[in-house]
Amino acid sequence: MPHDVRVLGPSDAPALHALEQSVTSAAWSVERLAHLLGEARFLGVGVFSGTDLHGSVTAYTIGGEAEIVNVAVHPGWRRQGLGQVLMRYVQDIVVNTGLERIVLEVRSSNAPARGLYTKLGFMQVGLRPHYYADPREDALILAWTVPVVSASCCAGSSRLINNHH
Ligand SMILES: CC(C)(COP(=O)(O)OP(=O)(O)OC[C@H]1O[C@@H](n2cnc3c(N)ncnc32)[C@H](O)[C@@H]1OP(=O)(O)O)[C@@H](O)C(=O)NCCC(=O)NCCS
Repeated sequence: MPHDVRVLGPSDAPALHALEQSVTSAAWSVERLAHLLGEARFLGVGVFSGTDLHGSVTAYTIGGEAEIVNVAVHPGWRRQGLGQVLMRYVQDIVVNTGLERIVLEVRSSNAPARGLYTKLGFMQVGLRPHYYADPREDALILAWTVPVVSASCCAGSSRLINNHH
């Protein structure tokens, strides 16, 4: 079945909670997610097959940036491009809403996530030593900055240079 991507609202909170529970031991409560998904400064994006939520991204959108809170693809649906689809959708939202960049933290040992972010053009901009517990581990701070539009380029079109899509 094909997948659809869309922005999540408060009524998606139970499905988002269930998905996060399948991925992390620190899933936020349905009530907290429902509250945040109704807030202008919070963004949730989901990838669905029919009504089933298979992957999600959540982020705060503050100070010109999208700060990623969580990226989750259901274990049974990994390595099928859903992570990429979700993150590219968030990149498009960031471009179209005038935000400047996406920032996130990732465990240094999280090879799947680091592979995903590298593929999408994220660069390391910092390091938080021993940031995570259980196991204790460094956090890499990664960022993706909206590509600059070249004024001299493309005579009248608004094509972006350095476009990762
Ligand atoms: C990280 C995660 C979101 C990736 O989702 P996904 O849907 O499996 O990713 P995709 O299929 O879109 O893969 C995109 C790229 O990521 C990299 N990647 C994904 N899984 C990988 C793995 N197991 N090993 C190495 N690289 C991997 C590859 O570069 C891949 O491109 P390719 O398939 O062309 O080689 C998923 O593994 C997940 O939910 N992990 C648990 C939660 C988590 O760690 N979240 C990130 C917190 S910062």
